[in-house]
Amino acid sequence: MSDCLFDLHIGYVRFKNPITLASMAGIVDSGFANKYASNAGLVVLGAFNLDKASMTVASDLVAMGRKEFISDEPMELIKKEIRAIMSESAVAVNVRSTKLESLIEAAKLIKEEGAILELNAHCRQLEMLEVGIGEALLHDFPRLSTWIKAIKETGVVLSVKVRANVVDDIELARLIDMSGADIMHSDASRNDFGADLDAISNYRDATRLFLIGNNSITDFEGAKDMFSRGADMVSVARGVLQNPELIRELVESVSSYQRSIGWYNVPKHVCSDGDFRALAFCCRPVKPCSVHEKFRKLGYTAEEFAKTKFDFAKGTMLEFGGDTCFGSLVWCCKITKPCWLRDGALNTIGLSDVEYMKLKKQLAEYLLDNARVPVNESH
Ligand SMILES: Cc1cc2nc3c(=O)[nH]c(=O)nc-3n(C[C@H](O)[C@H](O)[C@H](O)COP(=O)(O)O)c2cc1C
Ligand code: SF4
Ligand code: SF4
Repeated sequence: MSDCLFDLHIGYVRFKNPITLASMAGIVDSGFANKYASNAGLVVLGAFNLDKASMTVASDLVAMGRKEFISDEPMELIKKEIRAIMSESAVAVNVRSTKLESLIEAAKLIKEEGAILELNAHCRQLEMLEVGIGEALLHDFPRLSTWIKAIKETGVVLSVKVRANVVDDIELARLIDMSGADIMHSDASRNDFGADLDAISNYRDATRLFLIGNNSITDFEGAKDMFSRGADMVSVARGVLQNPELIRELVESVSSYQRSIGWYNVPKHVCSDGDFRALAFCCRPVKPCSVHEKFRKLGYTAEEFAKTKFDFAKGTMLEFGGDTCFGSLVWCCKITKPCWLRDGALNTIGLSDVEYMKLKKQLAEYLLDNARVPVNESH
């Protein structure tokens, strides 16, 4: 139903929609994924423990009542689990190891199976931190970077699962990006209840890396909040335990949203704390407002910013709209902001809401591609 609706792919992996089942140790295996996430864009199995030290920790945790997947033949188990996924969902495998060699071995196998390796830099049980796995990687940037580079040499599509608000989120996102990972999957947890949406916005303006946002999503409103901060996909874990229909509901809602507006993760306007992509909706920079600071961070002067927008608009439908506030649709607001002037112009030229928003998405990418200061160096 939603197969061609989203243009989401990385390397050899395609996602049919932007909804992910996140890993839960001892819970999310192929059986769970087939039952509760058969229409998800991505399912993340695991975590699986790859080496002796991580298996010992997992066994100790099981003795204390935690659920874990433990096997003496972890590579065989991973292969079997990937092959047991019955749906068209892309598959990722969340792994823990104290040894780079086991990660490389897993990466080769996972690539062979057409799946994604997800390096676990997230679990924070004391026993795991003591042996240097999970969140311990966030406190050791040199090792994290070396491991990402080495794993990427196998050619596997690599996701790094992290937790927000543990170290400097901007430095972390840029390190993961510069080291060559393909995806950053962040549990945007805060100390108090709920997701830290600012963490997602901060990542979005620090890197153009593919971003999966996670934490406390239990309905489409929660998912939309993360999408509008710049998440390319969102993931859910505990919500699926509470509501077995959650993934199906999210896929239906995001598909219908995409069909109606054409840009499911459209940013908020810059004056509502929107990220760089929102410059596509900014007015002509003729009055004092937050747009100036925003484009300056990308190295644009006001003249360069205006020229770059005009350059993109040339030959496209955004050139039209002479009766709008600034004489061209290139300066116009999001379709979700009611405006009879813009809608009249769209009507006259026969441009649908979806086509208008798709052009604005391309414009956002053009503004980032042509920035004088790349996003991952902006400040
Ligand atoms: C029981 C349980 C086990 C988990 N195990 C893992 C794990 O092995 N690896 C991992 O990266 N995250 C693990 N997580 C974290 C989840 O993937 C997710 O990041 C977190 O629960 C926040 O998302 P949520 O609010 O949708 O649950 C686990 C979470 C739960 C509740
Ligand atoms: S240019 Fe317009 S949309 Fe952009 S920040 Fe200023 S007032 Fe908001
Ligand atoms: S015409 Fe409407 S959509 Fe265009 S800039 Fe003015 S208020 Fe925004």
